[in-house]
Amino acid sequence: MDSRPIGVFDSGIGGLTVVKEIMEQLPNESIVYFGDTARVPYGTKSKETVTKYSFQCINFLLEKKVKAIVVACNTASAASLDAIKQSYDIPIVGVVEPGAIAACEVTKLNKIGIIGTEGTVSSGAYEKEINIINNDVKMVLKACPLFVPIVEEGWQDTEIAKLTAKEYLEGLKGNGIDALVMACTHYPLLEQTIGEIMGEDIQLVNPAFETAKALKTVLHELNIHSKSSKSSSYEFYVSDNPVKFKKVGENFLKKPISHVQKIDIEKY
Ligand code: DGL
Repeated sequence: MDSRPIGVFDSGIGGLTVVKEIMEQLPNESIVYFGDTARVPYGTKSKETVTKYSFQCINFLLEKKVKAIVVACNTASAASLDAIKQSYDIPIVGVVEPGAIAACEVTKLNKIGIIGTEGTVSSGAYEKEINIINNDVKMVLKACPLFVPIVEEGWQDTEIAKLTAKEYLEGLKGNGIDALVMACTHYPLLEQTIGEIMGEDIQLVNPAFETAKALKTVLHELNIHSKSSKSSSYEFYVSDNPVKFKKVGENFLKKPISHVQKIDIEKY
């Protein structure tokens, strides 16, 4: 039994899609979330830069005495998971492997679409993980970089979101895919819009569910899960604009966020 919190980070608001799942699947756990809103997007930056950012995010979360880390960002997981796992002596869960597992469970035609940031798409991380699970699966990848600022702005239910999604996704439909992985934690906030364009025959895959499940397994294996919900608390930190984060975050989580604090991530 360990009541210390779980540390979760993303480049911005997107990691809340994972937080939501952790809240549902692991209600006894406390969470400290960091959204790097001053430096979002990560998806257009180099592997070296994203890796440096990931180290800083983890150093900050460790200061908050977390017992495990969830890299709730596909771009950071794809760029830096191996490096950070080698450098820290704390359980670390990324989102790419859980996303790959979920996608392989869903596809019947063995043809999967993957949408993510430029960084995730060019990293080859999903191809690698999916082909470890099933070597027969074919993949079609597409970077959708404008989805991230749309979500950060809280514009997911606007005409701009619909037009942007149409432009990115229309061409993916004719490829014979029956599953589409939302391989960026920001994208599930656009799930309805993406689903309307892809149609009923293509199932959307949100890696967040499998990520929370993987976290649960790790916590139980190491016997560091929390057994009581009485003490669970949620703290949120950002590197810029806490007011906007609170507004967009509350709208997505459908619950009040009482504590959002701005910190200087460059110090870590
Ligand atoms: N939410 C992030 C991801 O899962 C990154 C978005 C970005 O900062 O470009 O890839």
